[in-house]
Amino acid sequence: MKIAIVYYSQSENCDFVANEIAKQIDADIVRIEPEKAYPDKGFKKFFWGGKSAVMGESPKLVPYTFDASGYDAIILGYPVWAGTFAPPIRSFVEQNRGVIAEKPVLAFATSSGGNAEKSFVKLAALLKKDKISPTLSLVDPLVKPSDDKLAAIEAFCLQIKELNA
Ligand SMILES: Cc1cc2nc3c(=O)[nH]c(=O)nc-3n(C[C@H](O)[C@H](O)[C@H](O)COP(=O)(O)O)c2cc1C
Repeated sequence: MKIAIVYYSQSENCDFVANEIAKQIDADIVRIEPEKAYPDKGFKKFFWGGKSAVMGESPKLVPYTFDASGYDAIILGYPVWAGTFAPPIRSFVEQNRGVIAEKPVLAFATSSGGNAEKSFVKLAALLKKDKISPTLSLVDPLVKPSDDKLAAIEAFCLQIKELNA
């Protein structure tokens, strides 16, 4: 089973998770970036990113290479912004809806509060799927590392390997 991890990360927590998962399940990685980077400091960081998420914006992405036909499943990874997935994920789904519709979609999210459940429900709705499963939710795993978080990543990878079996 060949898997692509497609993720957005502003401050590298999701990047850390994506790379850990890729190592453990031998997946390919596609990092997406908005053409116009969101502010990453101070008040503007939360204001503009939060507003963009709440408004349901789809920022234009820097060109990336992704050929869905080479993959059996897709993992989407993102930071939670204003209770939902960060906007570049919406852009990616809108650009690739047709080619990923029939494939299993899994997801991981990082957040500072730890509650990503609502974001998974919203992502499922965007993808027109009943549910995203399995999912992984972690609190800032790069800036607040812990053995529990590494164990959760490992458990998520085991679930993926079981899908494979
Ligand atoms: C614009 C913005 C909005 C955010 N909104 C939330 C939120 O609603 N709930 C939460 O728990 N964390 C929120 N956060 C924190 C991030 O989700 C968290 O720090 C995440 O791990 C960052 O991932 P990254 O380093 O891959 O960008 C927000 C951060 C930003 C920049």
